Amino acid sequence: MNSSIVEKTAAYFRGKGVILPTIAELKNPNLISEEIKNKVLTLDKDAMDPANLFRVHWFNQRDHSNFLDVPEHIVLPSEFTGVDAKIIVNLGRYFPLITAHKVLAAYGCLLPRILNGSFDYSKHKAVWPSTGNYCRGGVAISKILGLKSIAILPEGMSQERFNWLEKWVEDKNDIIKTKGTESNVKEIYDACNELEKNKNNDIINQFNEYYNYATHRAITGSSFEKSFLKVKGNTNLQARFYVSASGSSGTLAAGDYLKENLNTKIAVVEAIECPTLLYNGYGEHNIQGIGDKHVPLIHNVMNSDFVVGVSDEATNNLNLLFNTNEGKKYLESRKGFEKDFVNRLPEFGFSSIANIIASIKLAKKMKLSKNDAIITVATDGADLYETELAKTKKQFNKIYDEVTCAEIFAKNFEAITVDHTLELSQIDKERIFNLGYYTWVEQQGTSIEEFESRRSQSFWDKHYKDMISLDPKIKEFNSL
Ligand SMILES: Cc1ncc(COP(=O)(O)O)c(C=O)c1O
Repeated sequence: MNSSIVEKTAAYFRGKGVILPTIAELKNPNLISEEIKNKVLTLDKDAMDPANLFRVHWFNQRDHSNFLDVPEHIVLPSEFTGVDAKIIVNLGRYFPLITAHKVLAAYGCLLPRILNGSFDYSKHKAVWPSTGNYCRGGVAISKILGLKSIAILPEGMSQERFNWLEKWVEDKNDIIKTKGTESNVKEIYDACNELEKNKNNDIINQFNEYYNYATHRAITGSSFEKSFLKVKGNTNLQARFYVSASGSSGTLAAGDYLKENLNTKIAVVEAIECPTLLYNGYGEHNIQGIGDKHVPLIHNVMNSDFVVGVSDEATNNLNLLFNTNEGKKYLESRKGFEKDFVNRLPEFGFSSIANIIASIKLAKKMKLSKNDAIITVATDGADLYETELAKTKKQFNKIYDEVTCAEIFAKNFEAITVDHTLELSQIDKERIFNLGYYTWVEQQGTSIEEFESRRSQSFWDKHYKDMISLDPKIKEFNSL
């Protein structure tokens, strides 16, 4: 630990009125002091104010006027999903600053650097590589703390991400656009390796940052347990599966918490157009935020139980259906779904729709009953994909009417089958685990010892314990 930098940073933060929230507070905002809570709740949720750090959790009420006891979530009606299992979707768009939960991972990855003094605000720039939401989260956290930062993301990501970044960065040169789209992560690493030559750039790479894993296991996992227990009430509902699309695999780590505490199995979702885990395949797709043509270092592969493939044709088309007047009218008038429910469908972005489709596939494959629950997550909402929606609509050659809506719903939703759904055998797990060797050991210089030690659950438990033991250090830092 570099005490002089820690003290210098504490003084800098004090001058800006920064107080760092503890892990316990982010797991349970009832622990946040009344004084802080009152201040935060009068602020705009997107204000560039460090007090908004106290909103970086799952418990923000939809109108942001208060904190809740359980995360905002939706239990999908069975008439809609066509399966009896209860699918519980936890909503990420109520996180502050970026309307996506990746801002939590960014805080969790920066935090230890502040506490041990390895990040010196007077010299360093935080570099946030991602396919979009994590780098926005990183830029947001850096900005409200008064730290310099750089975002790296592929040029083909949604325009809404770039519009947001342009408003938040100090200088447009702090947005680095790499070649390609969603699955071009190698190009992101190349840009990081170039920037790393300058020792003042601190690369906070979500794909190999174990604190990303540990943040989600500790905070997201325990938060999702609460929404499950609320839905369960006094019934004998079982939390059978946790379903999460993987980008960096951070969000997936909530599954390790749920497995430990509720005996839940873990299903990873990827795009069938880029089936890296399922078939060691490759390709392009538009489920933005996931499926990056490699196995992230922080993916606890040996603890994963299923892989489910979902097509981006389905997510693109359902995004259109859920977010147009024609689609809403079809779902309400022709399919008879409640207006209130249909009005909530825009709370699901592309990867959220993928998680929902994957949950339905699993419920069908495993023949789940009404006593079974699937816990899943909607990382962001449709508002981040309006320009993508316009592109999908164009593909219908201007004829987008009730018949088109019926075709989309029948083909992409009602006809969901159990294809591309794999229960992982020991050999499958090893095949996926070993695939990571080429990225990490051969390409990125991870030592073979570190790579191999990830086979053991105790390796992951150690990182989790490190994370949950940060609170005394956070309190000490706040009191400096
Ligand atoms: C929209 C969206 N969905 C899913 C993910 C995947 O989350 P994770 O990186 O935690 O695996 C991301 C990651 O940035 C994302 O932006």
